Amino acid sequence: MSDVKTAVAPPTEPWLRQAAELLRQGQLVAMPTETVYGLAANAWDGKAVEGIFAAKGRPQDNPLIVHISSMEQLEGVVSHFPKEAEKLAEAFWPGPLTMVLPKSEKLAPQVSAGLDTVGVRMPAHPVAQKLIDLAQIPLAAPSANVSGSPSPTTASHVKNDLDGRIPLVLDGGDCPVGVESTVLSLQGKPTVLRPGFVTPQEIEEVLAASVDVVATRAESCEENFAPPSPGMKYRHYAPRCEVILVDSELDGFRSYVEDRAGDGRAIFALCFEGEDAGLAVPAVTYGKAGDAASQAAALFDSLRRLDALGAEVAYARSPAGGGVGLAVRNRLLRAASFREVRL
Ligand code: TXA
Ligand code: MG
Repeated sequence: MSDVKTAVAPPTEPWLRQAAELLRQGQLVAMPTETVYGLAANAWDGKAVEGIFAAKGRPQDNPLIVHISSMEQLEGVVSHFPKEAEKLAEAFWPGPLTMVLPKSEKLAPQVSAGLDTVGVRMPAHPVAQKLIDLAQIPLAAPSANVSGSPSPTTASHVKNDLDGRIPLVLDGGDCPVGVESTVLSLQGKPTVLRPGFVTPQEIEEVLAASVDVVATRAESCEENFAPPSPGMKYRHYAPRCEVILVDSELDGFRSYVEDRAGDGRAIFALCFEGEDAGLAVPAVTYGKAGDAASQAAALFDSLRRLDALGAEVAYARSPAGGGVGLAVRNRLLRAASFREVRL
């Protein structure tokens, strides 16, 4: 497993063909999507899918999302595509919306980790689309990080996590969205299991019906808590350093962080662009204040940068939680193991 040579290659025609061939042979390929990089395998090949779990160190009971590039491929992935799903696909595909639907018998059972449903999405990234077209198979692909660490938004994030474990990373540059897709269950009342770039309000508008959102806090660390989405029970998106959110105006945030400097540990601020000027502690920024899309695009890289800079504790400016900010807040809260100070 650890003696594979990992190539990082541009998504040129020959490399895309090579990647498609590897996938058809049951191997793993990391590919860019508009959200984060995915670690792809043939969703019909159980052995290939097992390889994903092994490479990531992913818990066996956490199901994978299947990626398609055309509506025809739904056959062989889901057993039923309801009217609501059609409307949502029309509105948001290709794009960062994953729908949880009844699965097809043809899928490798490992994809769904024992559930009778499957999460499916059509990514908007041209490299992912081209790869699926060439391979002519649906691709099971979780985020291409080691389980638990921040999701990868650049090819070098993938290389850092999975070097020696997979043969190929297609380098499509930075992922424009930066947080993972919205996961929406269509089993019963439409319910957002994981917030993402497509917001609950946008989904409600298309369905002309109300949508539930699973509370972030619901994950709790209780042993017997059975979350609707298995992925929600694991600590996620966490850098090595300790993260603590600070919900406050900028001035309050600055003095709170500066007061904590000098406790013997490497204290950092995780704030918005421009807010680091004149701060008495080192800082990493994640996007612009009041611009959730820019925060989403920068967040995971910023968490990884904190580790690279040797941060031991990072006090983070709390993001506003509305719209896309719901996803940013969800990821940061998890990175912080739900610790948030309110000033
Ligand atoms: O944007 C994304 O969704 C990225 C890119 C690569 O497409 N993929 C991604 O996959 O984030 P992953 O495996 O890191 O997260 C998938 C999430 C997990 O929380 C998992 O538990 C949930 O979706 N999920 C997958 N299938 C499910 C199902 N059948 N029922 C409920 N939750 C499901
Ligand atoms: Mg993931």
